[in-house]
Amino acid sequence: MELSGRVAVVTGAASGIGRATALALAAAGCRGVVLADLHSCEETASGVKAHRAEPLFVETDVGDLDSLRTLFARCEEVFGRLDVLHNNAGLGEGAGVWPEVAPERCAAIVDVNLRGVVLGTQLALEPMRRSGGGAIVHTASGAATVPLPPQAVYAATKAGVAHFTRSCAPLAESHGVRVNCVCPGLVDTPMVLETGGGQPAEWLRPFHDAVTLLRPEEVAEAVIALVRDESQVAAVVNVENAPAAS
Ligand SMILES: NC(=O)c1ccc[n+]([C@@H]2O[C@H](COP(=O)([O-])OP(=O)(O)OC[C@H]3O[C@@H](n4cnc5c(N)ncnc54)[C@H](O)[C@@H]3O)[C@@H](O)[C@H]2O)c1
Repeated sequence: MELSGRVAVVTGAASGIGRATALALAAAGCRGVVLADLHSCEETASGVKAHRAEPLFVETDVGDLDSLRTLFARCEEVFGRLDVLHNNAGLGEGAGVWPEVAPERCAAIVDVNLRGVVLGTQLALEPMRRSGGGAIVHTASGAATVPLPPQAVYAATKAGVAHFTRSCAPLAESHGVRVNCVCPGLVDTPMVLETGGGQPAEWLRPFHDAVTLLRPEEVAEAVIALVRDESQVAAVVNVENAPAAS
């Protein structure tokens, strides 16, 4: 897909990978970038503007169906179309370790990481069809394929996202919407620090110390590549860490 003049929605756009993708989409020529997050996206919005694209912040809880409906309605109301969706908002067990995690947190992980991706995809289909087709990319995780006992709920939702992606292959034909996902390794974002209350958790240390963390921009690059490449349908793409520099 050629990105110039397109309109994109990015969830979890206030921070980390979502912010990097929003900026990369603006830099690639999108005319409108809708920033969906629970939190203010001021910094992301300034970056989008710097690339001469128009940001639109829509306060959104991707775990809430009505909130998602409002998000896509606002996008079409303001920009008249929807071409790209990055289903990226997510959360893990935080400083907790499965199964010593509040049931409410477990419910939120499933709601945001899996339910939000499924419903976001479904609600984007009609606006994208009206726009002549579109591209959706989910942020899954390396944890989709590798067991992660301390974050068992997180890993289960990410495996679900990867498999949902594969099952969405027919949407390319039926709706003109290609669905793909990225599975990043460890990325330098606040989510990693949250595991140990401001630093990487003890259980994460061995892996953390063995690799070079990805920059959010590297993941954004992989997302943009999937959006651009019309041959990519239902692809689950790993974005891997390099070994730590010695
Ligand atoms: N950081 C990593 O190592 C890593 C690795 C693989 C995958 N991921 C995935 O990347 C995605 C982005 O995470 P990140 O690392 O940039 O973390 P981050 O914490 O920097 O960003 C997550 C964003 O999602 C938003 N968010 C959380 N719940 C939300 C909700 N209910 N509705 C709307 N927005 C909500 C947060 O406010 C935040 O801005 C997540 O899906 C995460 O699981 C991260």
